[in-house]
Amino acid sequence: MTEEQLYSVHKGVYVPKAMHPAESLQYYEQFAFRHDDVLIVTYPKSGTTWMQEIVPLIMSEGDLTPVQTIPNWDRVPWLEENRAMVLNLEERPSPRVFATHFHYGMMPQSFFTAKPKVICVLRNPKDVLASSFHYNGMASYMVDPGTMDEFMEKFLSGKVMFGSWFDHVKGWLSAKDKERIWENTVSGVQQDLKESVSKLSQFLGKSLKPDTIEKISDHCLFKNMKQNKMSNYSLVPEEFMDLKKSEFLRKGVAGDWKNNMTAAQSERFDAVYKAKMQDVQFKFVWD
Ligand code: A3P
Repeated sequence: MTEEQLYSVHKGVYVPKAMHPAESLQYYEQFAFRHDDVLIVTYPKSGTTWMQEIVPLIMSEGDLTPVQTIPNWDRVPWLEENRAMVLNLEERPSPRVFATHFHYGMMPQSFFTAKPKVICVLRNPKDVLASSFHYNGMASYMVDPGTMDEFMEKFLSGKVMFGSWFDHVKGWLSAKDKERIWENTVSGVQQDLKESVSKLSQFLGKSLKPDTIEKISDHCLFKNMKQNKMSNYSLVPEEFMDLKKSEFLRKGVAGDWKNNMTAAQSERFDAVYKAKMQDVQFKFVWD
């Protein structure tokens, strides 16, 4: 099926109609953030599920119950998804934790007045491309990726779910009120999971004992998270996600793009990246 059939355009970016009907986008637009909310911000395939595991465990001070009993999409709901409307989020006690794939410029008004905390996770866009390529091939609510050449051109021009990676990242990097925003890269989290859990808990105002940090980090290792049916998407019916084609928690490494892109594709990607990111000062680990 085509983009026109499967996606609608919301504030200039494609969103899959199946999960983001007009009412849920309207719900988000009117959503009332609280100052003590925590919002996980990611471009798709940049470590959202990982943060949906790590942050609740920090909040519960290492108690595994929430992550072992509540699916990640209800535990840390995406505010733009249709689930958000039926979860009674207004009744949830503070501090609430949410996720979003929205760009900075797409955020509703209350975000700018309530000023919740933001955890912004960035990932090497070539790994995002590789991960998205496989994800698009296994999820029925997304357009089939075609060949890597075809999909890469769509990715580079932002004609994919949630629009341009470049616009998303540049928008959030230019966000105001930096003190309430925690930025890290997936490779940073991968390199030192314990250090990231520790820094993140300080950012969230939780002082955790070393053995709690150890416990959380161990639970959130790729191989362990893969076993958690509340986070590995095995609860989703096969007609929506066919995990036999590609698992959701697929490889969990930095640099897998090398197994998915040719040298020519990588060069073409780098040229577009250089042109689009030339005005960005942020030092990415992958540069
Ligand atoms: P790969 O497809 O490269 O394996 P999102 O949750 O934003 O959709 O991102 C999914 C990507 O994050 C997948 O990348 C997935 O494997 C990776 N990921 C999820 N949990 C992880 C973990 N505990 N450790 C490392 N990578 C993880």
